[in-house]
Amino acid sequence: MITPSRAIAALIVAAGRGTRTGSKIPKQYREVGGKSLLAHATSAFVRHPAISRVHVVVAPGDEARAAVALGPLADQVTIGTGGDTRQQSVRLGLEALVENPPAHVLVHDAARPFVPPELIDRVLAALADTPGACPALPVVDSLRRGTDHIEAEVDRQHLWRVQTPQGFDFNALLSAHAMATQGATDDAEVLRQAGLAVRLVKGDERAMKITGPEDFAAAERMLAMDTRVGMGFDVHRFGPGDHIWLCGVAIPHTHGLVGHSDADAGLHALTDAILGALGDGDIGQHFPPGDPQWKGASSDRFLAHAARLVAAAGGRIVHCDVTLICESPKIGPWRDRMTARVAEILSFHRPITSIKATTTEGLGFAGRREGIAAQAAATIRLPALDITGS
Ligand code: CTP
Ligand code: MG
Repeated sequence: MITPSRAIAALIVAAGRGTRTGSKIPKQYREVGGKSLLAHATSAFVRHPAISRVHVVVAPGDEARAAVALGPLADQVTIGTGGDTRQQSVRLGLEALVENPPAHVLVHDAARPFVPPELIDRVLAALADTPGACPALPVVDSLRRGTDHIEAEVDRQHLWRVQTPQGFDFNALLSAHAMATQGATDDAEVLRQAGLAVRLVKGDERAMKITGPEDFAAAERMLAMDTRVGMGFDVHRFGPGDHIWLCGVAIPHTHGLVGHSDADAGLHALTDAILGALGDGDIGQHFPPGDPQWKGASSDRFLAHAARLVAAAGGRIVHCDVTLICESPKIGPWRDRMTARVAEILSFHRPITSIKATTTEGLGFAGRREGIAAQAAATIRLPALDITGS
């Protein structure tokens, strides 16, 4: 007896000609954000932990072109041929999976480059108790029927814009395609015509389809990055001791700096600048000073934490600028080491890092050598719209 497989396969249909874009190059091979639509769409499924196999169907003769468009992803998928219509392409793709049939299959248009992982999760979750699941968004504009004049109002209630990936019980979709007698623009419709239930699940605006020439610009806009600048400021008082920590470097000194952690005003100001650029509170919220676990803590941990938050948001720290304000110690001899240490803590982001110092001409608390102040600015780039779902 064959044990039923629990595997989930993804079938990416990319065998169309993209005639409505008005371009000679089929849309799935054109790029947005420096990557083909096909590669964008495929990567979402290759990356998803629940999906064990990805099969891509392309127009006959396009196999090599598809492999180039997929780049490094080409090794992680199988490529087969599609047919003259989308429906035929899906049927041929399903047949290619029959030899080692999955339990479920997700069918996705290569013309929809952005597939948030939570959209895949919602479709898969629905498949636990339905043979078909279709992501869809409600129609929000008022609808009218007509040619050059309005002839009738159309009730938009219960009308949906359907998207992909659509998910199915593999055998159910395979037989529905085998017995399909009429054309259908998607697989939810093929399954429905076979008399099986297709559940609507919440779609996602980011899963837009590229259809006309103007849609490429819209897709580029979705990949746009926002630039944000945050600032930070910190002061620590001198106290007993023989060294201070500044910008991650221990410097011998006539005094120490007093603080709950290692009192590194430079790293604290920079951490706050990054948190400020993220709009994510301040260092005291992330590492409460009353919490004993941060007593004497090395402040590189605070900075590394802020850097991880930026990475988790799909962003990058591009520039850090710190000014240390003190009469002593002299910062010049330590500056290169400080810059190198900050760059090391933020190495994942490879920011331009600048560390400067100034005195206050003997004025104020820094001038009276009572303590050290630091201020910092951090520039980060964040996706304007989060399509990674991370
Ligand atoms: N598709 C396919 N095989 C076909 C036709 C379409 O695999 N014979 C795929 C397309 O590559 C696309 C998806 O089905 O990823 C949705 O189709 P559509 O947006 O209509 O793409 P095209 O058919 O390529 O575009 P057009 O209709 O403008 O020619
Ligand atoms: Mg088409």
